[in-house]
Amino acid sequence: MKGIILAGGLGTRLAPLTKITNKHLLAVYDKPMIFYPIETLINAGITDIMIVTGGNHAGDFLRLMGNGKEFGLKHINYTYQEGEGGIADALSLAEYFADGEPICVVLGDNIIEKNIIKAVYDFKKQGKGAKILLKEVPDPERFGVAEIEQGKLVNIIEKPKQPRSNLAVIGIYMYDERVFDIVKTLKPSDRGELEITDVNNAYVKEGTMSWEMLDGWWTDAGTFESLLRASVLVSQTGANNK
Ligand code: DAU
Repeated sequence: MKGIILAGGLGTRLAPLTKITNKHLLAVYDKPMIFYPIETLINAGITDIMIVTGGNHAGDFLRLMGNGKEFGLKHINYTYQEGEGGIADALSLAEYFADGEPICVVLGDNIIEKNIIKAVYDFKKQGKGAKILLKEVPDPERFGVAEIEQGKLVNIIEKPKQPRSNLAVIGIYMYDERVFDIVKTLKPSDRGELEITDVNNAYVKEGTMSWEMLDGWWTDAGTFESLLRASVLVSQTGANNK
């Protein structure tokens, strides 16, 4: 299984900080944000990793991480997203790297307390389709929200004004090799982006999307409030604990 970290986009919600650096290089407690999703993948045994970056400071990723020696890696792959066409647009750039293998995608601003070892194991056994992870949150309207009926995932709605559950779809996704064909069928949403929620709903419709609840805390770090919360949570418990 290969790992893909999406760290493109322009991080405009964190301006003016993101005028002078890439959002994913900002500090979360004692490390740059991008270190956390890399550790999430490595913790789950995924060491063949590509980072999709973007914006005006992409070269700084190389300066910071090079080939990933600090993480015990021999090599990190990088690619560059022009503009901010959306999460699914960033993912499409990894098709060549994935080369027909299943993938685990982690958003560059998502941080977890524990690990995804069990979910990755379960997805490998599942063989076909996709898997998402859910977490109860107090503010579901900020996220993709899962609708579950009698234990079955029936739909995901991106940032609903009136959420039908408090189950956020976190930014860690597992897909089979068909994900890139699905991305090619997408149309931009009202916010002008290719939405990962549309990719996920294609698998839901097909009946091949599984889901699990994430154990431990989860946060994004893409707004000032969540960036601060992420630092506090990491300072209290650490992140990516086994
Ligand atoms: O954090 C989980 C949420 O992430 C999910 O619940 C939502 O369903 C999903 O759409 C996404 O929501 P956001 O609106 O918060 O995503 P955001 O635009 O902040 O992008 C998150 C990361 O994705 C960002 O840190 C880098 C990557 N990204 C984003 C865009 C728009 C890219 O690589 N390229 C892009 O064009």
